[in-house]
Amino acid sequence: MGGYGGSGNWTYGDYLMLHDLLKLQGDERGVSSDEMHFIIVHQTFELWFKQIIRELTEARDILGQIPVPEDDVPRAVDHLARTTEIFRLMANQWTVLETLTPQGFLAFRDGLGTASGFESFQMREFEALLGLEADDRLFGVDPLETFRKLAERGGEDKDVLERLEARVQEDSLYGSLKRWIERTPIMGSSYGSAGDEETVEGYVREHLKAHRRIGDQAVEKMASLGNRDPGSVRERMDSAHESATAFLIPDGNVSRVRAGLLFIESYRELPLLTWPRRLIDAFVELEEAMAKWRHDHARMVERIIGKRTGTGGTSGVDYLDATARYRIFKDLWEVRTILVKPQDRPELRNSEFYGYQVDS
Ligand code: HEM
Repeated sequence: MGGYGGSGNWTYGDYLMLHDLLKLQGDERGVSSDEMHFIIVHQTFELWFKQIIRELTEARDILGQIPVPEDDVPRAVDHLARTTEIFRLMANQWTVLETLTPQGFLAFRDGLGTASGFESFQMREFEALLGLEADDRLFGVDPLETFRKLAERGGEDKDVLERLEARVQEDSLYGSLKRWIERTPIMGSSYGSAGDEETVEGYVREHLKAHRRIGDQAVEKMASLGNRDPGSVRERMDSAHESATAFLIPDGNVSRVRAGLLFIESYRELPLLTWPRRLIDAFVELEEAMAKWRHDHARMVERIIGKRTGTGGTSGVDYLDATARYRIFKDLWEVRTILVKPQDRPELRNSEFYGYQVDS
């Protein structure tokens, strides 16, 4: 009987546990409609957070397999796509909160004490699961610190801390993605096969040569157009080339992960790369949706409390705006900066390996 379990005899209310769920919105405290709406919006967000953690865990586990069975990749894409849609929906949900006037909020704000979204442990859990590194957090914020303090109260707060600490130790979604990308066949050469290192290095060097050539052409073009300061264009191109080199060859060794990513992004039209690029696109879309959701939170907050400090003790809207600049899937963003036009990319070798006859 579908999702109705063994008995097949549920009522709608029992199946959804509505009798319990609908007791949790503050009626017994006699909350105003403004405050009830504030609670319900938060609760719906937290319910979605729960689903997000589930989707991302499954995607992480799929990509954590070595090797990842080919027909599992579309499933990972589906989990990410659902998460993205949830973020888009949540980004729109801020407008419901915006029906709260600044004064309407002030009327019950004091009652919140120090309670703040900053203490959303599910949010911290999915950030860790995604792969947001502690070092990349703003202003040295250590989210676990918050939960260590709360854990002193024991009980469920202690469980939360344990759960978060375990999550931080686990593989992240981004970590599994990178390990998967590392095994991308490059120019037909398989990860770990004889001569693979040379092939990958050759590919990276050739790409960098093209990158350099395009920079040179841009400088020449600027000069021919009468740019008054060709020196500064040269400087910019040189520094862009240095960054591209440092990205692909960090510490003097070619990064096979980044080379694989560059390869997938550069030869996107190859049939064998269809799912890899769709997977990468799904990651990029997800992070874009998250950044927009964070941004819209800041706009809603600015509208309701202006530049007041938050109940969680941060600077408030300035802090939230800064979090919209977090990038977890850094390499996926950075590779975009170093791509070259299709006609300038290194000539594809072993095209038949990718299910495509380039020469025909
Ligand atoms: C009137 C409504 C709201 C106001 C004025 C508000 C304000 C703030 C402020 C000022 C912060 C910064 C931390 C602090 O110092 O408190 C914050 C953080 C946060 N808020 Fe809200 N918020 C509102 C509604 C919501 C809702 C409905 C959610 C949904 C769960 C939410 C989730 C979060 C989260 C997860 C953070 C932590 C962000 C981070 O550290 O990356 N907020 N909020």
